[in-house]
Amino acid sequence: TTMSALPATPTPAVQRKVLQSWVGFSNLPNQVHRRSVRRGFQFTAMVVGESGLGKSTLINTLFETKLYAPKEYPPPGVERGKTVQIESISADIEENGVRLKLTIVDTPGFGDYVNNDESWKPIVDNIEARFDAYLEQENRVNRKQLIDNRIHACIYFIQPTGHSLKPIDIEFLRRLHTKVNLIPVIAKADTLTDEEITSFKQRVLADIAHHGIRIFQPPQYENEDEETIQENEEILSKVPFAVVGSDTLVRAADGRQVRGRAYPWGVIEVDNESHCDFVKLRQMLVRTHMEELREHTNDVLYEDYRTDKLRAMGVSQDESVFKETNPAIKQAEERTLHEAKLAKMETEMKMVFQQKVQEKEHKLKQSEEELYARHREMKEALEKQKLELDDKKRRVESGRPLTPEKGSKKRFGLGK
Ligand code: GTP
Repeated sequence: TTMSALPATPTPAVQRKVLQSWVGFSNLPNQVHRRSVRRGFQFTAMVVGESGLGKSTLINTLFETKLYAPKEYPPPGVERGKTVQIESISADIEENGVRLKLTIVDTPGFGDYVNNDESWKPIVDNIEARFDAYLEQENRVNRKQLIDNRIHACIYFIQPTGHSLKPIDIEFLRRLHTKVNLIPVIAKADTLTDEEITSFKQRVLADIAHHGIRIFQPPQYENEDEETIQENEEILSKVPFAVVGSDTLVRAADGRQVRGRAYPWGVIEVDNESHCDFVKLRQMLVRTHMEELREHTNDVLYEDYRTDKLRAMGVSQDESVFKETNPAIKQAEERTLHEAKLAKMETEMKMVFQQKVQEKEHKLKQSEEELYARHREMKEALEKQKLELDDKKRRVESGRPLTPEKGSKKRFGLGK
């Protein structure tokens, strides 16, 4: 078993002490808060779905900005690119003194071609390239300010067919679920009736379960307060969110100005929970679970990617399984894992360092050789010159003529 391989160090018993007076670390949450506020927050979301499903509109609706200007479409006959593109837009937005650097990564072209077999590929590549960029920074010797361009959430737009998921949806979700927090939404939900939405959601969830696809769900922690549990359950009950987007105001029947879509028979309100799930989606994404999304990306999705990558590179890791039954064993294993992780990082850093040193040494050696060669050349030239001058001196002294051979006049500057 793994037990015998574990270090024998006992876990020190923790003593509970009551403080005599105020020490001050209870101010830690405020310190963390102030530092985070000063630095600002960073969030990167990706939107994926066929053209015209309302991606740009929904993003504008979510963040109450015209992040996306109306798109220009090529005139008929002019071809668009042949593959899925990756484009990103960033904006610094501020609310009550809190800054958020929001980046939205768009994937135009997804599912828009005759052959969409590999539509997911450029997206996976892009997500992995972002992981790689982060890993590369982690391995640097100077790792003060890491730039985090990893995708924290991927909003996947499902076409409101009312049937079930299409093969392209399943393929995409299957390929992506271990790399990114997936948030599936039913696009343009105002085109379906309430009953249609209910049964469509059920079929989509059944498809997702059938294919073993993991989508992001608010985690349920132990000791959570009643209110949070309730809140999470409400969010969970709406997945996949049936959304309606609109960045224009319309007049509701009772005269209120609302964000919504006006139809001959009435107005669908974006911010009305009895009309669609937009409010719940926004609550999860922006108001209650943004930090969870970032954490899950870092602690689980990125960590798995990193482990796989390092393992593929030959840096193997302790494969031990956590023993849930015994906290001491679990703790020891966690420590071993942590130490292995540190050791792994150290090895990586050493490798990078060694490589740098070697490069430097090589360069130095090269310039040393160059210097030496130049020195030798100069010395030889000088010696030759000296010999020639000696020769000339002897001739002058013996009274012989000065032009023994062609060209030498010019060379020694003794001609006219
Ligand atoms: P691409 O830029 O081509 O990828 O499209 P997109 O997915 O960004 O769609 P966009 O937001 O540009 O919306 C396309 C059209 O759908 C526009 O005419 C929108 O007004 C309309 N639209 C957007 N959201 C909704 C919605 O929730 N319901 C309905 N009925 N129409 C919507």
